[in-house]
This record gives sequence, structure tokens and C-alpha cells, in this order.
Amino acid sequence: MWRQGKPIRHSLLEARWPTAEEAARSRLFSPIKVGGVRLESRTWVPAMVPWRATEDGLVTPNVLQWYERFAAGRPGAIVVEATGIRDIASGPLLRIGHDRFIPGLHQLVETVRRASRGHTRLFIQIIDFLAVKRRPEKDKFFARFFALNDHHRAALVEATGDALWLAANESAIRRFLIDAPDDLLDSVLDERELESLRYGYRERVTDMDLPHIRELPEVLPGIFAAAAVRAREAGFDGVELHYAHAYTMASFLSAKNNRPDGYGGRRENRVRLPREVYRAVRERVGADYCVGVRFLGDEVITGGSHLEDAVYFGTEFARCGFDYLSVSKGGKFDDARQPKVGHAVYPYTGPSGYECMPTVWSDARGPFGRNVGLAATIRQAVRNAGCHTPIVTSGGIATFEQAEQILQSDEADIVAAARQSLADPDWFLKIKLGRGDEIRRCEFTNYCEGLDQMHKQVTCKLWDRVQLDEPGAAMSGDARRRLVAPRWRDTPEEEMVVED
Ligand SMILES: Cc1cc2nc3c(=O)[nH]c(=O)nc-3n(C[C@H](O)[C@H](O)[C@H](O)COP(=O)(O)O)c2cc1C
Ligand code: SF4
Repeated sequence: MWRQGKPIRHSLLEARWPTAEEAARSRLFSPIKVGGVRLESRTWVPAMVPWRATEDGLVTPNVLQWYERFAAGRPGAIVVEATGIRDIASGPLLRIGHDRFIPGLHQLVETVRRASRGHTRLFIQIIDFLAVKRRPEKDKFFARFFALNDHHRAALVEATGDALWLAANESAIRRFLIDAPDDLLDSVLDERELESLRYGYRERVTDMDLPHIRELPEVLPGIFAAAAVRAREAGFDGVELHYAHAYTMASFLSAKNNRPDGYGGRRENRVRLPREVYRAVRERVGADYCVGVRFLGDEVITGGSHLEDAVYFGTEFARCGFDYLSVSKGGKFDDARQPKVGHAVYPYTGPSGYECMPTVWSDARGPFGRNVGLAATIRQAVRNAGCHTPIVTSGGIATFEQAEQILQSDEADIVAAARQSLADPDWFLKIKLGRGDEIRRCEFTNYCEGLDQMHKQVTCKLWDRVQLDEPGAAMSGDARRRLVAPRWRDTPEEEMVVED
């Protein structure tokens, strides 16, 4: 977890919870239309990867339980975690790149409908990502991955003052580099090679020498569209195209995208593929199906896109017909911390990662509602363009007053809470019932994010070691942590949403 230079430990916000009558009158618990879908309230659980799918990307009983638990709190909407659109191995992340994934996803839809008693709408976030390899051992890197060329030989001569390197045999050079100090490597390897050595090899959308990267604009609209059709067949109320954080589509939008093929450089070019993907999706799923997008209000990296870009993108997305815009922030590889050998770089460990999931160790502004301003500015621009597309905001929102204030002041139309919903999946229901003082409040110290970073099943430190003897409580692989929050035992009978 990255911490601000001289972090201040912030306390949680004071919370005054409303009575049931006050909640019933609130904007938060008022309905809203998202495209053709009606949400009962403006409460929203955004995508969160829990690492519970099979190695083949299939839905498991643990996946079902995870979403069942969120559904019991009856948010207006849940967005299912980032789900891969390709039919390629990607570890225990959900996938939707083939029809064989539909039955499991259909079961997931049914589970949420049943557990929320039909009160919660369900969207699925669909994602494409490029290859990221683990940080290699130094000797393995030089023995296997390093492509020696004449530039390296010349640089070695320059760095050591020894002309013998020009004709030296290749294995001698590799052996020498394995033992070479960092500063010598700095002058012999280029920037990408150093990155591959120290962080692990990572593809970029600008790697035009790689045919599969060059062809992304031809390939992606079709596979996103096919995935969206499967989402519809599985029964989801809509799809969310993942154009945020560290992944392929966000990289097309990034100011760092300088592809020379008309898909990079100026903003108009960078938004071209994201728009083409949307059009392909829309063509296949039809005008009545809900298609939303998650994108960044600010990449928070040097040379990256900032709010002016996001205002332009948001307006374009609204104009072309997206049914909602969910604004996130940061979460990039570019400023991530160096991983340990054998681990992959994780895009939430640097300053931009901090902005995506801010913790109580913060600057003077603190972590709460830190990203709302981005959503508000984008919303205003979208409205000025004559579009009424709902805007979803997230990031450090964990009290009723915060949420209500955001909605009342028209900074956003829907309020998303990831970690607070993980800490207490019943929190929206508790507010609605006037029982807010029973909420288990997120501490914003990111234990859950640490688990995600290690690709371990995500849980919350406030509940993963309690009531371990609860009948039927699913446990983590090491049998030390429960996988879903304990039941809210005092749920009023008429509100009981999980069957005994
Ligand atoms: C464990 C974990 C997994 C996440 N996975 C995703 C994801 O799959 N897609 C996504 O867009 N955001 C993901 N996020 C980011 C959240 O959706 C949200 O934007 C972020 O946590 C800030 O909101 P919060 O302060 O309410 O937690 C994840 C967050 C956490 C904590
Ligand atoms: S582990 Fe729980 S309390 Fe800690 S940040 Fe995550 S959700 Fe909040």
C-alpha cells in the first residue's frame, strides 16, 4: 500500500444515521432509470474482484455466495467483478469469452435475484487486459528473455572501456550481465528491458511491432460485443465496459497512447476505439439493453490523461449512447511499486493506486469522497451537452450524509461504495430500516486490497475471523478465514432476504 509523503491518520467521518422515515424520503433511496433499467435506489456496489472463480474462469459456489451476500443488503445495483472477454487462461478470474461460461453466469444472476428478492439489478463488468509477466530472477532474465543485439555490445564497450565486448561470445556477455551492478545495467539496457528485468515484462497498446497489439482495433469490437451478448443471454440487466484503471481500453484513452494508426495521439483518436467497441456492443445487444462504462476522471500519472480529457471522453460517451458513466480514478501500472521476484506488478501500489482506493493514511484532504469532484465536473459537462446520462461516483463514501449530500448537490446521480459494502453488505438495508448504528464501518486500511494484491481470496478484516463456527460458513483454502460476512442475525422477519 502506498502512503502519502507525510501521511496523516484520519479518523472515520462522524456518522449520523437517518430514521427509516428520513431514509424513505431521501434521494439515496429514490429510484432512478439507467437506460431501460429501473433501480429502486441510487445505491450501488461497484465491481470488486474476489478471486473465487476456477482456474478456468468458471463461476463457483464461492462466487455465488459472495454475490448472494451483497444481494442480501439489497443495493439498487451490483456490478459483477471484472470478467475477461477472451477465451484464454487468466487464473481464478471470471470469464465470459465463450458460451460455456453462460450457464454459471446465469446461476449467478438467479442467485442475486433470489437473495435480493428481485430488488437488486445486476450488471457485469467486462474487461480486456494485456500480458503482464511476473518479475523474473535476474539470471533467468539474462539467460532466457534478454535479446542481445549490437546496441548492447556497443553500450558495454562504452560503459567498461573494453572493446572486446564487440566480438565476445554471447554466453559470456549474458554471464557478465547477470553479475553486473545496477548502474552498469542502467547504461546498457534500454528502458523497456530494464522494466522487464525489474518489474516483469508488460505489454502496452503502443507495442506496434507486435501483430496482436497492432490488430487490437480490428479484434476488440467483436470480442467485446460477443461477451456482451453472452451477458444478455445469461440474464444480466446490463454490461459495464471496463475502460478504467490499468487495462487495455483505458490505455487507448490514455494521453500516453501515441499509436500512429489513427487510434492514438489526439483525444479524438484515443476515444475512437472505445467508441467503436461501444457501437459494436450496441449493435449486437440492441437499443433496449443497458450498456454502461467505467472510465477514469484522472489517471494521476505523469504524462497521463487528466480531468479535461475525461470531460471530453465522458461527453462523447454520453452522446454516443452509453446508459451510465461510472467515474473512477488512477489505478495504473506506470507508477506501481516494484514487485518482489516471482510476483507481478500490481497497479494499486503507487500514488495513482492510492487515488483509486484511498486509505485513512492520507494527505490533508483525507480519503473520503475524494473523487467526487471529478464525477461532478464530468456530470456538468454531460448535462451542458444536453445528455441526461446518470453518473456514478465512488471512492471513500461510507456514510448516509455523504451519499445524500452528493446526490442533493447534483454532483452525481448514483453513489457506489465498494469497501464499505464489503465490510458490511447489509449497510444499505440497515440505513433504510433506520438501523444505521448497527453498521460495521469500513476502516479504510486496505487489508482487503492487500489480499487482492497477492491474488488471495478477498475478505474483510472486520469479519473474516468471527463466528467461524457459523453453520455453512465457507472458509478460505487455508481454513483460517471465512469468505463472506456473517449473517445480520437481527434482520427483521419481513426483511429477511437470505433463506434459513
Ligand atoms: C478487492 C477489490 C477489488 C476491486 N476490483 C475491481 C474491479 O474488478 N473493477 C473495478 O473497476 N474496480 C475494482 N475495484 C475498485 C472499486 O470498485 C472502487 O472503485 C474502489 O475500491 C474505491 O471505492 P471505495 O472507496 O468505495 O472502496 C476493486 C476494489 C477492491 C477493494
Ligand atoms: S478490510 Fe474491511 S475494513 Fe479494511 S478496508 Fe477492506 S473492507 Fe474496509
